[in-house]
Amino acid sequence: GGKRVGMDALLALDQGTTSTRAILFDAALNPRATHQVELPQHFPAPGRVEHAPEDLVAHSIACLRGAMERGGAGAADVAGIGITNQRETTLLWDRATGRAVHRAIVWQDRRSAAICDRLRAGGLEDLLTERTGLLADPYFSATKLVWLLENLPGLRARAERGELAFGTVDSFLLWHLTGGRVHATDATNAARTMLLNIRTGEWDEEILRALDIPRALLPEVRDCAGAFGTTDPALLGAAIPIRGVAGDQQAATLGQACFRPGMAKSTYGTGCFMLLNTGETPVRSTHRLLTTIAWQIGGVRTYALEGAIFVAGAAVQWLRDGLGIIHSAAEAGELAARADPDSGVVMVPAFTGLGAPHWDAGARGAILGLTRGSGAAEIARAALESVAWQTRDLLDAMRADWPTQDGKTMGDTVLRVDGGMTASDWTMRFLADALGCPVDVPAVAETTALGAAYLAGVEAGLCPPPGDNATHWRRRVRFEPDMPAEGAARRHAAWKRAVGQVLGR
Ligand code: G3P
Repeated sequence: GGKRVGMDALLALDQGTTSTRAILFDAALNPRATHQVELPQHFPAPGRVEHAPEDLVAHSIACLRGAMERGGAGAADVAGIGITNQRETTLLWDRATGRAVHRAIVWQDRRSAAICDRLRAGGLEDLLTERTGLLADPYFSATKLVWLLENLPGLRARAERGELAFGTVDSFLLWHLTGGRVHATDATNAARTMLLNIRTGEWDEEILRALDIPRALLPEVRDCAGAFGTTDPALLGAAIPIRGVAGDQQAATLGQACFRPGMAKSTYGTGCFMLLNTGETPVRSTHRLLTTIAWQIGGVRTYALEGAIFVAGAAVQWLRDGLGIIHSAAEAGELAARADPDSGVVMVPAFTGLGAPHWDAGARGAILGLTRGSGAAEIARAALESVAWQTRDLLDAMRADWPTQDGKTMGDTVLRVDGGMTASDWTMRFLADALGCPVDVPAVAETTALGAAYLAGVEAGLCPPPGDNATHWRRRVRFEPDMPAEGAARRHAAWKRAVGQVLGR
């Protein structure tokens, strides 16, 4: 045990796709103690991904307790809990018992693809995009919920009688942490359901009717910093107020203090999610990016353009588990550094299709440009480079979508990055080269948890609201681009040709 964290601690719960963790921060937002538990994923059939609802609840409680214990904090020391979570993952539960009627359907799950086709065939996609900022893709919650209502016998009648509750992971955890007293969500999680009108911040009645989703299922939509009830006193020693909720990518945007329009962050986990703050007016993408709510505080919404890539760190996992050319993810950069930089080997990691800006669920991966001189090092390098080039495609799409907004431009972008892959200096240096802009790595790597703690701190009056006087962001290191422009352009062109081949163009 170290020193006690002191009063006014902030406790962040980060429920992600592969793990759950809680981090105890002191009032100045320095991380003081962490507790993490791995989360099993279930793959009952190809394209299906589920979590056990009991795991989500039990692991969350264990992590909250563990972080408090390690940080020497009692319930009275914690000024507030902030919850952040994997987004879009869908739960439906019985209001009387709190028990889920099915396992959580994870954001990666593709089972509702046919429902999306139906919506598109019915001419609904334009309305959905206009109102929600999203695309008719199984990624989002709405069609997962429709799938449950259409496929589990008796559910629709129970839903109409008001016996069931729908929610994303934040709502399900809120329900259970408050002993079933709160059925709410925040605007950022709600924005990922494909049921929220992102301009009004309210559930969209027309979409609910078109998808035949009973209104009685839905949680109340609240600000990200606000009163979300208090924890059941039996869980953490005494009741603790829950004061912040946000989807994990939005929380990371806050943790990275991307408070001004034009600021962008990119998080490298299994996939990669890049968000650009576009200010208080939503920008409709013409380059197949998503429009989403970055945060809602004091009833005011800040919007973002988002690019989602399905494979980033997963490409490194594949080098390790699929190919066996490295033993640990940390070796990828060292191996890549030994490659012939001009080998011309290009990898397109479309293992599960391509996300933004292509959105081709049927695309599959490829390695191109192999010669007798190509070896493990060249393939490792191509895998790491693919992460950078995919980010470049997102940045180009963002620049094209948002050339000028109220006179502001993305012109001098600095990309703030976080997530596991930022530990590799080689990858970050190449990222700066590929983007042609500086890449900043922050001092606190856990930006998602930091953002959730920050939201709870704003509500508790301990942290200033988003703006220039928020001081929690510090840089650890900056990578400046230093590849000659001609070399970068040639490599980028080779990448684009490879993507074109994968897309069959
Ligand atoms: O949209 C999905 C995203 O929120 C998942 O994040 O960190 O759990 O992979 P993560």
